Amino acid sequence: MLITSIALQNYRNYQQQRCDFCPGINLFLGDNAQGKTNLIEAIYYLSIGKAYRPVKDEQLILWGKQNFMIRGTLESRQGTTTAEIQYSIGEKKSKTFKLGGLALKKAEELSGSLTSVLFSPDNMSIIKGSPQERRHFLDYDISQISRSYAKNLAIYQRLLVQRNNLLKRLREKRVMSPEKNSELELWDAQLAEVGSKIIEKRLHTLAKMNPLTRLMQRKLTGGQENIEIHYLFNRKTEIQSSTDLKAMLHAARDEALKEDLRFGTTQWGPHRDDLLITLNGIHLKQYGSQGQQRTAVLALKLAELEFFRGESGEYPILLLDDVLSELDENRRQQLLELIQEKAIQCFITATEKSGLEKMDKRQIKYFEVRQGRIISHEMQA
Ligand SMILES: Nc1ncnc2c1ncn2[C@@H]1O[C@H](COP(=O)(O)OP(=O)(O)O)[C@@H](O)[C@H]1O
Ligand SMILES: [Mg+2]
Repeated sequence: MLITSIALQNYRNYQQQRCDFCPGINLFLGDNAQGKTNLIEAIYYLSIGKAYRPVKDEQLILWGKQNFMIRGTLESRQGTTTAEIQYSIGEKKSKTFKLGGLALKKAEELSGSLTSVLFSPDNMSIIKGSPQERRHFLDYDISQISRSYAKNLAIYQRLLVQRNNLLKRLREKRVMSPEKNSELELWDAQLAEVGSKIIEKRLHTLAKMNPLTRLMQRKLTGGQENIEIHYLFNRKTEIQSSTDLKAMLHAARDEALKEDLRFGTTQWGPHRDDLLITLNGIHLKQYGSQGQQRTAVLALKLAELEFFRGESGEYPILLLDDVLSELDENRRQQLLELIQEKAIQCFITATEKSGLEKMDKRQIKYFEVRQGRIISHEMQA
């Protein structure tokens, strides 16, 4: 899979920018706060129709403007196409998606047209961060390849808001036996239905990701370390795909009902789950060294590359934002060799070139990023 060019309009600190990429390594050099991460963010945006960071679309519009546009030319085994996203805050907010010039109804319909693996220093949060950050990791990957998953997530989110609003109304009315409320029953049945589909897909994905991650971790550590990702229902109970998910959700609902009413929020469901990552059976977040945690994140990212290839038959693009300087020499070389060996299109940002000299020069295109402008340096390649 390739992205051969991008056009940005009023996106973050880019006013008007076009950029042609090479199929090998695209290297973006520049000082801090010039727009390197913003470019990476825009490319990723095309994969999923939203930002990878928890940021509102309004914040992505160049200050003082009313709209932004991202358009990319994509190449895959299906052929060449363009994907375009426009967001505007004029009289009313609107967001439109186009694929091959045709308007799409929902962001989900972008799924599969560009798959991206993003690796940045923030990814340490997969290990060290909150349950939400771990779910995010899984949700964003699955949403890129599965329209139905992305759709179910959006539906689930809406149901959850509606249920929570109802809980608050019931609380205000001091309803004592909410289990007899037919409206609540209706939401709960739907939440359990959609929620079970979401959890099921997550479990299937982990079943595929686990052997890939284990293989990568073993490669990176000379066979020393065994990594495993476990799925924790309600942040505590480990479950597998054989579990009766709907029954489990209904039971969790009954158990939490009184508390839900008290707090006006829903305390069960896929939005309350977590991942537990272990290394040789030991909780990596609590007991792993910094080095082990970093290696594990790299293994996860490499596993994502293989996972996407397994799902779509093609390698995704790889976005490496500011990470090469964080890896030790050995890991950096392993990563760069892999990219070149598998012919993965890659976008690397860095403040300086050092550490990248050994790459195959024919495959590299250099860019300089300065104050929201990208200048290509064809001559250096
Ligand atoms: N909506 C926006 N409009 C204009 N500038 C923005 C917007 N959002 C962020 N910026 C600017 O973008 C710059 C950060 O760019 P970034 O891509 O993170 O830099 P880096 O090159 O260090 O990765 C900052 O100067 C920030 O003020
Ligand atoms: Mg940056």
